[in-house]
Amino acid sequence: MKSLIIYSSTYKGNTKRIAEVLGEPINADLVNLKSFKDINIKDYDLIGFGSGVYKESLSPQLFDCIEILNLQGKHVFVFSTSGVGLTFYNKKLMNLLVSKGAICKGSFACKGSFVSKDFSDNKIFEIMSKFSKGHPNQKDFSKADNFINKIAT
Ligand SMILES: Cc1cc2nc3c(=O)[nH]c(=O)nc-3n(C[C@H](O)[C@H](O)[C@H](O)COP(=O)(O)O)c2cc1C
Repeated sequence: MKSLIIYSSTYKGNTKRIAEVLGEPINADLVNLKSFKDINIKDYDLIGFGSGVYKESLSPQLFDCIEILNLQGKHVFVFSTSGVGLTFYNKKLMNLLVSKGAICKGSFACKGSFVSKDFSDNKIFEIMSKFSKGHPNQKDFSKADNFINKIAT
């Protein structure tokens, strides 16, 4: 089985670290969206799409990239890192994938550290940033490893 992971990780590399953990057991080719050109996905059986969350959304470039791919019948999964670390941010991307005929195998999310002042003066983000400190951590990596082993079997 050939696997591919396409990810966007423009802030601190948090999502990149998760992409590496997810990619290891399935021996996936890892592609940073930053250097994404034209990729032949025909030969891949499983494709993962990941991003950090920026202002309530996964990377718009990731959505654009998916629009041009032929994903009919492909097995896919979605992952993200964010201040809150919840999978609800993945839903919109999953819906797009399903609308393109892909078969969604699962969704993974964990916290990724951030400095609240980098994007907001809102107190709530200051509190959230305290909880996200040090993430992704060893526990997150272990959960990511469990997730990928479950969906790849
Ligand atoms: C500009 C900006 C906006 C962000 N917006 C959100 C957000 O809306 N919700 C959230 O939970 N986290 C938010 N975060 C935190 C990031 O999602 C988190 O740090 C993530 O791990 C970044 O991933 P990356 O290092 O792979 O780019 C934001 C961070 C930045 C810098």
